[in-house]
Amino acid sequence: MRDVLEGLDSDQRSMMTELCILVDKEDNPIGGASKKDCHYGEGALHRAFSVLLFDRNDRLLVQKRASTKITFPSIWANTCCSHPLMISNDGTDVEESVRSAAIRKMEQELGISTEISEKWDFREIGKFKYSSRWDSEWIEREIDHVLVVRGDPIIEPNPNEVEMVEWLDLDEIRSMVKQTGRWSEEIVAPWFKAIMSAYLPEGKSIDEAVGNASNEILQFGRMSLKPGNTNQILDQISGHRERAEEHIKEGLSKISQPRLHAAMNHLFTGGGKRLRAMLPILVGEAIGKGHEGHYVLGACIEIIHNFTLVHDDIMDQDPVRRGLKAVHVEFDDSTAINAGDAMLALSFEMLADSKHIDDDQLRLLVKNIGEMVRRVAEGQQEDFEFEGREVVSEDDYLAMIEGKTSAMFQMCAKTGAIISGAADEMVQTFSEWGLMLGLCFQIMDDVIDLRSDTKTLGKTSGSDISSGKRTLIAIHALSSGMDLPNFTDAFGNEEASEVMINKAITDLESSGSLDYAWKRALDYHEAAHQALDRIESSPSLEVLRVITDFQITRVR
Ligand code: IPE
Ligand code: IPE
Ligand code: MG
Ligand code: MG
Ligand code: MG
Repeated sequence: MRDVLEGLDSDQRSMMTELCILVDKEDNPIGGASKKDCHYGEGALHRAFSVLLFDRNDRLLVQKRASTKITFPSIWANTCCSHPLMISNDGTDVEESVRSAAIRKMEQELGISTEISEKWDFREIGKFKYSSRWDSEWIEREIDHVLVVRGDPIIEPNPNEVEMVEWLDLDEIRSMVKQTGRWSEEIVAPWFKAIMSAYLPEGKSIDEAVGNASNEILQFGRMSLKPGNTNQILDQISGHRERAEEHIKEGLSKISQPRLHAAMNHLFTGGGKRLRAMLPILVGEAIGKGHEGHYVLGACIEIIHNFTLVHDDIMDQDPVRRGLKAVHVEFDDSTAINAGDAMLALSFEMLADSKHIDDDQLRLLVKNIGEMVRRVAEGQQEDFEFEGREVVSEDDYLAMIEGKTSAMFQMCAKTGAIISGAADEMVQTFSEWGLMLGLCFQIMDDVIDLRSDTKTLGKTSGSDISSGKRTLIAIHALSSGMDLPNFTDAFGNEEASEVMINKAITDLESSGSLDYAWKRALDYHEAAHQALDRIESSPSLEVLRVITDFQITRVR
């Protein structure tokens, strides 16, 4: 067998013989394995830690990993991350083993004297499970314990480990993990992105993160990295967006009545992610058989999605969508209802008309897309009936969003697989991926409704509270038995002011309801990745993983 470490940096090579702690899914130690075996090929689940060192001005020390590193070289990450080892003082006391490993590695990587760091108050704020592939050989697969600590030490980076360090404030860090500004060209460690979105999301302070420390193991599933700079991939797929857009335009051009055409076109001029327009072709490419028909299909489902938005804003009495006046506000209720009807009809007409769709597949497409629209209607009916219902359970909610939202993601994926000529089993796998993706999407959408602002969202933030929507967040809060006066005041109160809504959101943060929903979204994120595990890996499949991860990091 060839030596997989041949030609690599000798210091880094020798560390590959260190013995890491293998763990089961619950973080129980089950043995030891070399650092190499934990990270090579499929890797093995092991225990790890990540330190966040803040100075007295709340700035975080970050490092760019050295190019000599074997796994994840030259990328930006938090202060220090490594593994507790199977050595005496890194033994069975988890807290102590993680702390002593942190002290040991901060000296080795950053030159922080152990005499100083031993006096520090390390606080574990949580742990999470994830894996992330670097290349065809190396992978990270760990349960990562996150430690927060304060100090202002002298840093002397070891060039074999660390290329450079910087102290950054939280705003800069958030820009780093979102990869905006100067960070857009850099690669940022997936585990650091996970840490920030789990424990220090926008609006949360360091003290709150420490105060909310939890023992629960969050599930991040597979986090994409290479070529998985999310922005790069989202840029790459914008070509798909444009090609589906052409079919949308062409379809809409059928409408000769000017005011009706304008109403149908209105939302398309306001932006939107066009996720449903792109999903069929992305699935087609993951199967290795993407073609023009996928763009037609994406255009059809996107038009249907937009039809449901036009009607949804009437039903929800929401005046803003994609930063524009909603269609019923810009035009009038009658025109909006009529435009929606015409959009639905037009989509089926486009499908049936297209020379890119096979006759013998058309019947299956009509059946599945028909089923999709019916399930959306059933879900929508439940969504507003729940507003007035005494008790709505978590299962009721999940069944509701499976209809109103997930059915569309599921059918984008399923029909995309069908027109690639995929075998039944594969169609079923993509269908399941779409369903899980859609559940994750909607729970996150409810979270984002409260965490984002109206301008970013392009729709009125917090409107779920004032209209009394039984989101998972509301269900958790209502059944918490906690006294949440601000939430009670604003919930279902159409007159609630922005100030009242903001106070209600603070209640939902302190009751843990926002976190709860977010964690449930992570479960579906993991389930979506598990569906993709059943498909042979390829660069196009990696794009679907990025789309999956995008759901838990998106802000609109
Ligand atoms: C909004 O969907 C409707 C929901 C199911 C929450 P999107 O958030 O995908 O809307 P656009 O298409 O990007 O505007
Ligand atoms: C929208 O649900 C679902 C459909 C349009 C079918 P929401 O009412 O939760 O979506 P937003 O928040 O208005 O986009
Ligand atoms: Mg609605
Ligand atoms: Mg709505
Ligand atoms: Mg919503």
